[in-house]
Amino acid sequence: ATIQWFPGHMAKARNEVQAKLKQVDLVLEITDARTPEASRNPMMNELVGDKPKIMVLNKQDLADPNVTAQWIRFYESQGTAAIAIDAQHARQLKQIPQLAKKLLHEKIARQQARGIRDPMIKAMCIGIPNVGKSTVLNRLISKNIAVTGNRPGVTKNQQWLKADNSFMLLDTPGILWPKFDDEQVGLKLAFTGAIADNVVNPDDVGLFGLNYFQQRHPDALRKAYHATATDIALPTPDLMVHLAKTNGFGDEYNRMAERVIFDARQGKLGRFTLEVPNEAE
Ligand code: G4P
Repeated sequence: ATIQWFPGHMAKARNEVQAKLKQVDLVLEITDARTPEASRNPMMNELVGDKPKIMVLNKQDLADPNVTAQWIRFYESQGTAAIAIDAQHARQLKQIPQLAKKLLHEKIARQQARGIRDPMIKAMCIGIPNVGKSTVLNRLISKNIAVTGNRPGVTKNQQWLKADNSFMLLDTPGILWPKFDDEQVGLKLAFTGAIADNVVNPDDVGLFGLNYFQQRHPDALRKAYHATATDIALPTPDLMVHLAKTNGFGDEYNRMAERVIFDARQGKLGRFTLEVPNEAE
């Protein structure tokens, strides 16, 4: 689903997230493991403040596992808990409630000391569109909807969904906008399919992607498009024109660009990550 982010929508989305944040103990910030920074909302740190948070790098099945491990270490070095998952496999999601309980162990202990046997952790998913928030949410919850209106600290009429006896989630994720003001971010998000294809010129997106694979994963181009080492050394636009010819698109290099985008999103060019952590930060 594509969302048009006009200033009014952004303000409304921010207000909605702020209101929901007041009701939870913990935030699950969902990002795309192929673009861990580009797929974040620019205001996220400010909005979440001191509230405990887990960075959830989703779609790890599509991302380069070595780079994902670097990102996890990077976030942890900044004091933020982080895990990588593939939300399509429910088993991997079990780590989330476990990690949440670890992060909130002091609060849980306090509640237990007051006689609450099974203290509930209340969490919510937040992220930009298409990172997999709904998939994570749906895979975390069991079928039963928690009826929690008369639990202390839980607003009536707010739907909560139980993941287990001590972990529940707000029924709808918080949706925020990506960083629009950065052209590189736009290209990355368009290449992975996180933003609609009409937002950024597809030729530019294709060239961006092809250049990335030339630099980082030339073997993928050899295998998928029969490119030789000499081909791969060409300037990117020349390579696109050449691959169009050798892959059955004749002079229609734009169709080759679309092909590169399509194949990358489908995983046909192998697992890839467009960003590495900047250790200097
Ligand atoms: P959102 O709520 O954040 O907007 O995202 P949503 O859960 O709708 O997921 C967006 C797309 O990403 C969905 O595909 C979903 O199946 C896919 N997805 C979610 N998590 C993962 C993951 O861990 N790995 C992979 N490979 N894909 C994931 P879609 O394009 O909407 O539909 P379809 O391609 O499944 O038909």
